[in-house]
Amino acid sequence: MLLKINDIKQKALIDINSVKDMAKLDVFRIKYLARKGLVADLFDDLKNIETTERPAIGKSLNELRNIIQTLFDEKKKFIEALTHQQKQILDLTLPGRPKWVGTQHPITRTLEEIKNIFFRMGFSEAFGPEIEDDYHNFEALNFPKDHPARDMQDTFFIDEKILLRTHTSPVQIRVMENHQPPVRIIAPGRVYRNEAVSARSYCLFHQVEGLYVDVGVTFSELKGTLVAFAKQFYGSEIKYRFRPSFFPFTEPSAEMDITCFICKGKGCRICKNTGWLEILGCGMVDPGVYKYVGYDPEKYTGYAFGMGIERITMLRYGIDDIRILFENDIRFLQQF
Ligand code: DAH
Repeated sequence: MLLKINDIKQKALIDINSVKDMAKLDVFRIKYLARKGLVADLFDDLKNIETTERPAIGKSLNELRNIIQTLFDEKKKFIEALTHQQKQILDLTLPGRPKWVGTQHPITRTLEEIKNIFFRMGFSEAFGPEIEDDYHNFEALNFPKDHPARDMQDTFFIDEKILLRTHTSPVQIRVMENHQPPVRIIAPGRVYRNEAVSARSYCLFHQVEGLYVDVGVTFSELKGTLVAFAKQFYGSEIKYRFRPSFFPFTEPSAEMDITCFICKGKGCRICKNTGWLEILGCGMVDPGVYKYVGYDPEKYTGYAFGMGIERITMLRYGIDDIRILFENDIRFLQQF
């Protein structure tokens, strides 16, 4: 008898788990608790038990009934609460909820476009660390020890030798250290400068670096590549010019201007009435750089270029404050 009681208790514990609604709960009630249910059957059997054992078994039976009754009561409460909740949630007259779809940040968009143009021309992508050492950020790029760019004013130093990279040019060094020519890469990424934050300058921004080194690379290839880029990116009608410039890691160096695409070269506030916009710095890799990376300067030549992404993005979308690009204000970002 005691075995039977225990068996029914186990079955009830299992059965109650599969009860999910009132109909199932009623089936449960009829099976165990009704007048002809399993528990009542056991009570009927009690009369066949020896009188001496009856009190003990009767007590177990009562316990069993209480347990199953509690299972029933608790489940009933649970199902009632659930139905009540569902009734409240289900208002078929409510308008549908819109799904918010994210958009690309304008900087990401500009970067992707630039990257794709260079990918089509056979460049691959390279990356370097944002926390750099002085060697890769300056020394191996041929910056003399007393060059003003090393000044505390422009660079976030972490300690004497470690800093936040001020440009993507150190990726050139890292690529050349690890690969023999030909190398043809672009290196997009964040750079940091210790400048006063204003509408025109921010403590971090993005650049895309380019590097191509092989046997017999010439300045005219540099020009051809950059002109092809500029026409795809800014439109085939733009005019361009290369102005001589200086960078420690290129010789000769140049800056590339294009006709202002705001005023089409007539002169406006954006191009400071010159009709020209500077878009990038470039040049032939200085042989002095090759000696740091173990390339033979008699055998190889190459070109490099670098451009800032924020300025281009701001001009394209008519954004007049660089800080808004870093604030992640949803009202601004949703416009893209
Ligand atoms: N690193 C330079 C800067 O941050 C930009 C630059 C100029 C990169 C000329 C180059 C280059 O690769 O050839 O101002």
